[in-house]
Amino acid sequence: MESSLPDLEAILLVGGQGTRLRPLTLGTPKPLLPTAGVPFLAHQLARARSFGVRRIVFATSYKASMFEPVFGDGSSFGLSLHYMTEETPLGTGGAIRNAAQALTSAPDDPVLILNGDILSGHDIGDQIRQHVDRSAAVTLHLTEVDDPSRFGCVPTDPSGRVTAFLEKTPNPVTNRINAGCYVFTRSVIDGIPAGEVVSVERETFPGLIDDGALVLGYADRTYWLDVGTPAAFVKGSRDLVLGRLASPALPGPSGEFLALPGAVISPEAKVMGGSTVGRGSVIEAGASVVGSVVGDACVVAGSVTDSVIGDRARICAGAVVRDAVIGDGAVVGSGNELQAGVRVWPGVELPECAVRYSSDV
Ligand code: GDD
Ligand code: MG
Repeated sequence: MESSLPDLEAILLVGGQGTRLRPLTLGTPKPLLPTAGVPFLAHQLARARSFGVRRIVFATSYKASMFEPVFGDGSSFGLSLHYMTEETPLGTGGAIRNAAQALTSAPDDPVLILNGDILSGHDIGDQIRQHVDRSAAVTLHLTEVDDPSRFGCVPTDPSGRVTAFLEKTPNPVTNRINAGCYVFTRSVIDGIPAGEVVSVERETFPGLIDDGALVLGYADRTYWLDVGTPAAFVKGSRDLVLGRLASPALPGPSGEFLALPGAVISPEAKVMGGSTVGRGSVIEAGASVVGSVVGDACVVAGSVTDSVIGDRARICAGAVVRDAVIGDGAVVGSGNELQAGVRVWPGVELPECAVRYSSDV
């Protein structure tokens, strides 16, 4: 069960470039992309707060100045938020070390560290309790995936002790991976070299293991998703709308779709599968929107499935969009059939045609 721990501090890693989510991340950093109606991070902030986190330091780099105008001092979330920006990206370890300058925790206190692109249903309170009970240096949340080669592969011994950390190895020895939520004892953060590019995955964790420090795994099989690709991003949004992962930040009841204020959905349109329809968007009669994220001020008359539609985009009647990303202000004319990872860059207009199957445009 979720329970709170007093005055816990956290660092949120939000400095990555989100290259795999282009063109969505050309103008907006990944952690701010609208997800189930709110900026992605709102879900992480609300969840962290539900476990007793009260003070969070954002470790920013890419588009750093965009975070504070959205979240401010955090009071609307019941949090105290602080922002630490790297002049040049310092990697995950360097970012943690840099952000730690804004922590108030004592050397023996646990500090929560969160990758800024993860949706997780695990019990953070229980992870922290195990860390404290066993006096670990670091405790890593671990989950299991089908393809561990895209993640940090983390074997453990029967006591839960991490025996190796193999970042993006072509030959993973287990399906158990680093799920991107750590508890660090504060003094261990202070041991990371300051002002240098450091990767926790490639340097800090392997170094601690080599030195014999207790690095612990907290393995669990609850909901977990890294939203770093378009397909995963759409899945995360629809799972939140459908209620597969409960989020205190969802701006409405869970269900087949979430319509934001000013959205107009024709009674003759089909909108389902955890779709979000953005502010002022119009879904016309005959349109179909399934499992998708439709931005603000869009007009959809065609068929959209498992896709992200940027703000002010138009999907005309007779157009088919599936597993695709449509940039802000783009127009997909009738007859275009866009599938399987197609990305349409912002402002591009695909004119009406007989039938056209397209790759990147
Ligand atoms: N401030 C700052 N500075 N943040 C950074 C930097 C940096 O230089 N580099 C990356 N980040 C942030 C990203 O914004 C993201 O929130 C987090 O660190 C992880 O970076 P990703 O680029 O998303 O890494 P990944 O998904 O390939 O791999 C990481 O996450 C996996 C789980 O999803 C690793 O931690 C893997 O070991 C792990 O399995
Ligand atoms: Mg990631």
